Amino acid sequence: MYLSTCVLVYFPHGIIPSMLVFDSHSIELKSRSPEQTRQLGMRLGGVLQTGDVLCLQGELGAGKTTFVQGIAQGWGSLDSVSSPTFILVNVYRRTDQSRDGVTPSLLFHMDAYRLDSTGEAEELDLDSMLAEGALIVEWPERMQSLISNERLWVEFVQSGEEERELKFNARGKRYEALLEMIQGGK
Ligand SMILES: Nc1ncnc2c1ncn2[C@@H]1O[C@H](COP(=O)(O)OP(=O)(O)OP(=O)(O)O)[C@@H](O)[C@H]1O
Ligand SMILES: [Mg+2]
Repeated sequence: MYLSTCVLVYFPHGIIPSMLVFDSHSIELKSRSPEQTRQLGMRLGGVLQTGDVLCLQGELGAGKTTFVQGIAQGWGSLDSVSSPTFILVNVYRRTDQSRDGVTPSLLFHMDAYRLDSTGEAEELDLDSMLAEGALIVEWPERMQSLISNERLWVEFVQSGEEERELKFNARGKRYEALLEMIQGGK
């Protein structure tokens, strides 16, 4: 059954204490501090590609923006991460403007919390963003119809004052590969 197939994996550097691997598209990690959440984000930020879509779901204060801080750092952001709640989308630039066509030139950080309707989000040109960068969306469930079927979805659950469960779900080959990279630390 679902739970009986899980394996417990230990991270080599002891940064992340434990990981449950369910199958090729689902893993769960436990973070015990904001720093651990940032470290995890850094791992993901280092392997981002142009066109990647990351959806971060979770209650207020669950740790989504903290995770984005790590992603931006791992990717090499010039700009500091702030919550785009009032702006809807922040754009971060990169120190090394690599022209390899794979590394995203820009990082788009969107927060759909205050979206009144999906119609408002329709005015955002997600395709243009994905042509030159990677897109991270907080509160993605509020604009789900606009998000591609293939994506990495991370659900944040507050399980203690400083403890968060991060439940990763990959849909599509690219995102299954991303999950593998997170697991292997490649
Ligand atoms: N393990 C942890 N991981 C992430 N944040 C943690 C953790 N433990 C405590 N925190 C704290 O929880 C808060 C998380 O805030 P953050 O802005 O990242 O949440 P959010 O999910 O983006 O919320 P919002 O929906 O309001 O944007 C921060 O104050 C952070 O220091
Ligand atoms: Mg946030």
